Amino acid sequence: MSILHAQDIASFLDGQRNKETLRFITCGSVDDGKSTLIGRLLFESKSIFDDQLQALETDSRQYGTQGEKMDLALLVDGLQAEREQGITIDVAYRFFATERRRYIVADTPGHEQYTRNMATGASTADLAVILIGARKGVLTQTRRHSRIVAMMGIRHVVLAVNKMDLVGCDQAIYDGIVADYQTFAAGFAFSSIQAIPLSGLDGDNVLNHSTRMPWYSGPTLMEYLDTVGVHAPNERDAFRLPVQWVNRPNLDFRGFCGRIAEGAVRPGDTVRVLPSGVTVQVKAILAGFDEVDMATAGDAVTLTLTEEVDASRGDVLVAAAAPAEVADQFEAKLLWMVEHPMSPGRQYLLKLACKEVTATITDIKYREDVNTGTHLAAKTLGLNEIATVNLSTSAPLVFEPYGANRVLGGFILIDKLTFETVGAGMIDFALRRANNIHWQALELSKTVRAAQKHQAPRCIWFTGLSGSGKSTIANVLEKRLHAEGKHTYLLDGDNVRHGLNRDLGFTEADRVENIRRVAEVARLMVDAGLIVLVSFISPFISERRMARELFAPGEFLEVFVDTPIEECERRDVKGLYAKARAGTLKNFTGIDSPYEAPQAPELHLHAGQLSTQACVDALVGALETVT
Ligand code: ADX
Repeated sequence: MSILHAQDIASFLDGQRNKETLRFITCGSVDDGKSTLIGRLLFESKSIFDDQLQALETDSRQYGTQGEKMDLALLVDGLQAEREQGITIDVAYRFFATERRRYIVADTPGHEQYTRNMATGASTADLAVILIGARKGVLTQTRRHSRIVAMMGIRHVVLAVNKMDLVGCDQAIYDGIVADYQTFAAGFAFSSIQAIPLSGLDGDNVLNHSTRMPWYSGPTLMEYLDTVGVHAPNERDAFRLPVQWVNRPNLDFRGFCGRIAEGAVRPGDTVRVLPSGVTVQVKAILAGFDEVDMATAGDAVTLTLTEEVDASRGDVLVAAAAPAEVADQFEAKLLWMVEHPMSPGRQYLLKLACKEVTATITDIKYREDVNTGTHLAAKTLGLNEIATVNLSTSAPLVFEPYGANRVLGGFILIDKLTFETVGAGMIDFALRRANNIHWQALELSKTVRAAQKHQAPRCIWFTGLSGSGKSTIANVLEKRLHAEGKHTYLLDGDNVRHGLNRDLGFTEADRVENIRRVAEVARLMVDAGLIVLVSFISPFISERRMARELFAPGEFLEVFVDTPIEECERRDVKGLYAKARAGTLKNFTGIDSPYEAPQAPELHLHAGQLSTQACVDALVGALETVT
C-alpha cells in the first residue's frame, strides 16, 4: 500500500465528496449468485481492505466452494451467518466507489420475509439490479421482486442475466430470457431496463468486457452503473422541509430543523407552514453551525424565519407558491409485512416523514396477486400481500403522491400495542369525498340533552367470554337504572348482530368491524344524553381502546366480566362451547380465537364467584364514584 501525504489525503477526500452517489438494490434468489456478484463489485472496485482480502483468501481455502479460486460470496455471506445466529438484520448496506461515483448497495437477504427487506432497501434506491440465473430464466421470484421494485418507485432496472458461463455463453438463451422479461415488465412504469449477460463468478461483463460473449456489445455492469442518468434534476421540484425538531435554546432563537425532502431554499424565500397555511419568509439557513446561501434536497438544515410562527414536529415548510397537499383520506398501495393479518377498521399508528397520526384502513379495494398482478377481492391482508386500500387518518397529513415524492408519499404503519412496523404504504392520491363533508354544527348539545334527563351520559362497556354473564348483569343493571328514572339503552352483541351487523361473522376482521360499528352507535347514544350499556365479547384490546377514545374522559367505563372459561363452558347456555369443542363452530372465543383480557378496566368483576346482584351493586357503586 502506498503512503499518502496529508495533501493527497485531503484531495482524495475532496474527490470522494464531490462524486455523485448512486443507491441501488440487488434482488434475486440465493442461487442467482447475488452474493458473488456483490463480492465481485467490491473486489474489483478495490473496496476491500487488505486484512479483509487476506481473511478472504484463508476463508476461501477453508470454506470456499470455488476450488482454488477466491470465493467472493464469502465477502458478503457473513450476513447469512449473523442471521443464522438469530441476529435480525433486514438490510445490509455496502459501500464502494469508482473514479466517477460512490455506491450504496442495499443487499436484502431472506426468503419468506423478502418483501419487508426489499421494501426497506428499495425505498431509497435509484436503481434495482435484478439477477436472473441463465439456467433458470424468469422465475416467480423474479416477477415478485420486479413488482415490488416498481411499486416502491424505482424506475431503472438492470436485468443481470448471471451465470452465463453455465450455459456456454449462449446468446440465444440470453435473448430468450430478455424477451420473456420485457414482455412481463411491459406493464410497469420502468423508464429503463438494461439487460447485461454476465458471470459474477468469472467476472465477465462485470468490470471488463467478456471475450467469451463477443455478440454482446452493450456496457459492462460497472460501465452502466457509472453512467446511467438516474437523478434527472427536476427544475420544478418545489421546496419541502418536514420539520423534525423545533430548536429553541433561548427566547431569541427559534430554528426549524430537518432534512430537505425536495427542492431548494434561499434566505428571503416565502414559505408556507402546512397544515396551518401561514406564510412567512426565511431569514437564515444554517447547515451545522454555518450560515449558507442555499440548501437543497438531502441537506440537513435549520431555518430561521422572519416572524414567529406556530410550527411543530411533523409540520412541513413548503414553497408558498407551490404548496403540497393536505388531506385525511387517501387511496394508497399497502404492503403487509407481518404474519398477523391486517384488519380494516383497526387503528394503527401511521408515520409519514416526521408526522405520526392514527390511521384506519377503511376499505381494501383489491389485493394484487404478486406473481400475475391480477386483482383479487380481500377482507384482510396477510404476510407479504399487496393491496390498494382507502385509509383515513385522525389528523390531516401534508403529503404528495408517492410517484412525485417518496419522502412525503411513503409511510409506515405501526401496531399500537407492540410498536412493531406492520406495513409500508405509498399514497396514490387524496380522496376528495371526505373533504367535501363538513361537520354540521347542531344547536343542541350533549350537555343540554343530558341535563333534560337529569343524568350524566355514560358508556358502560361489558367485555368477557361468551357465557361469562355480561348480558345478564347488564340487563339487571339497566332495569335498576330505569327504575331510578334514568334514560338507558342496552346494546347486546347477539341482538345487534341480527340487524346492523348481520353481515358480519367471527373472523378477526369481522369482529374489529363489529366493535367499530357498535362503538360509533354507542357514541351517538351518549351524545343523545343516554346511559348506554354495551355487552359484546369485544375480545381485542385494540378495539376496546378505540371505543374508549371515542368518549370524553370519565364517560367510558370498561367492565371486565371475568368468569373462568371452565365455568362458561360448564354453563354453556347456548350449547356453543360444545359445538366449538366438536369442531363444528369455528373461531370461537377462548377455544380457537383469542380473548385479550383488559389490563386496567374501571371495574373487574370476578363474576364466577359473585352473584349477579353483587356484581350489579358493585357497578352502581362504581357509577356513583365517577359521576
Ligand atoms: S364479538 O367478539 O364480535 O364482540 P359479539 O359479542 O358480537 O362478539 O357476539 C358474541 C355472541 O355471538 C356470543 O355470545 C355467541 O352467542 C355468538 N357466537 C356465535 N359464534 C361465535 C363465535 N365463533 N365466537 C364467539 N361468539 C359466537
